[in-house]
Amino acid sequence: MRLSIIGSGYVGTTVAACFADLGHEVVNIDIDEGIVETINAGDAPIHEEGLDELVADHAGPEGTGRLRATTDYAAVLDTDVTFLCLPTPQNDDGSIDLSIMEAGASHLGEVLADKPDWHTVVVKSTVVPGSTEDAITPILEAESGKTAGEAFGVGMNPEFLREGTAVSDFLNPDKVVLGADDERALADMHEVFEPLVSRADAPVVETDTRTAEMIKYANNAFLAAKISLINDLGNICKEFGIDSYEVADAIGLDDRIGEQFLRSGVGWGGSCFPKDVAAIIAAAEEQGYDPAVLNAAVAVNDRQPGRLVDLLADHVALDGARIAVLGLAFKPGTDDMRNSRAIPVIESLQARGATVTAYDPVATENARDYLDDVTYADSAAAALDGADGAVVVTDWDEFAALDDAFDNMADPVVVDGRRIIERRDGITYEGLTW
Ligand code: UDX
Repeated sequence: MRLSIIGSGYVGTTVAACFADLGHEVVNIDIDEGIVETINAGDAPIHEEGLDELVADHAGPEGTGRLRATTDYAAVLDTDVTFLCLPTPQNDDGSIDLSIMEAGASHLGEVLADKPDWHTVVVKSTVVPGSTEDAITPILEAESGKTAGEAFGVGMNPEFLREGTAVSDFLNPDKVVLGADDERALADMHEVFEPLVSRADAPVVETDTRTAEMIKYANNAFLAAKISLINDLGNICKEFGIDSYEVADAIGLDDRIGEQFLRSGVGWGGSCFPKDVAAIIAAAEEQGYDPAVLNAAVAVNDRQPGRLVDLLADHVALDGARIAVLGLAFKPGTDDMRNSRAIPVIESLQARGATVTAYDPVATENARDYLDDVTYADSAAAALDGADGAVVVTDWDEFAALDDAFDNMADPVVVDGRRIIERRDGITYEGLTW
């Protein structure tokens, strides 16, 4: 099929490259000329495992030609289905900001005015229930002068890929959710996903657009709340001197609980969980419902960085101390600093009079935009050298093998927020939740 993908962020680019790999003819539309040139040169505009190869295979000079990028929305006219993969940031009150989606829908609608035959538009961005039906479809209708269900169809297909494993998550989904209020749109979505579904043998969930939108929020909110619950339990374990990881391993054997997302520690960050949980809370409150468990999940998550710093303060006088912070990215395998737990940890250390030397294998450059007055070290060993204390914020594998580096600390006190370093003699070691 001929597909247009609007937006070249980490979802849009991944989806475009993967669909090209599955045999579709894909054009990726973005307003950023630099990104468009990068893709057309055969390079990935973001760092994602396996993405470079896919973009080179299909957009590069030696490629199949099934992937190209452009800034021109008119490219939509030569395609059958358009996926909207634009960002949905949050307003100051946590609610969803649909303005970028609305602007994209408006450009798309203008182009659809000139499309003589049927077209299907699929919302892939994470949007609160009702957005596709109540906000996006009316804009498409107004700008195109056409009626949804007659000249074009609208669907919703949420994306569950994680940063760092986006390509493999897309190509090996545990489910494909197709939401549509229109039979023809649904049939087009089935056709687009057929090569993926048959290759990955993935179950397909067919539903309406509102339910598809809610499935995405429920998925992310459930996982975020699961981590907050294990953090709450981990904090209780800590009070009793119990190893919460031993407890988590045991309860994870119960199929009803499951072993994943039971790693307690300094909490969840990133571009999705904090934003999506805030958006569904705001949407629920707007409907007059108080989502008590989700509010508690946020409260536990907000508390964990402070608990980490309090634990360190039990051993080190923070005022005037130099503290090594190991890890800055919101999780290993990415340089993304958005909502990283490192930010509140470092700000809290600084507020209590400490100076910070931080190290991360890839996120240092991005960290400069989020943090002030931090010294960045070239290695974990360099950050630890002479430090009065250390905290681990991101579970990079390399921190598991630091061994002797702790011997060069002025005062070998380490608080591990991710259970990654090996407990050893000669350091004062505290796990945040165990
Ligand atoms: C998440 C969802 O997993 C994905 O399906 C969705 O499409 C986007 O949001 P991502 O933000 O890339 O993906 O990261 P993820 O691997 O889910 O981790 C999120 C946060 O939770 C990280 O800060 C991580 O450190 C933390 N986490 C994860 C824990 O603290 N404990 C765990 O057991 C797992």
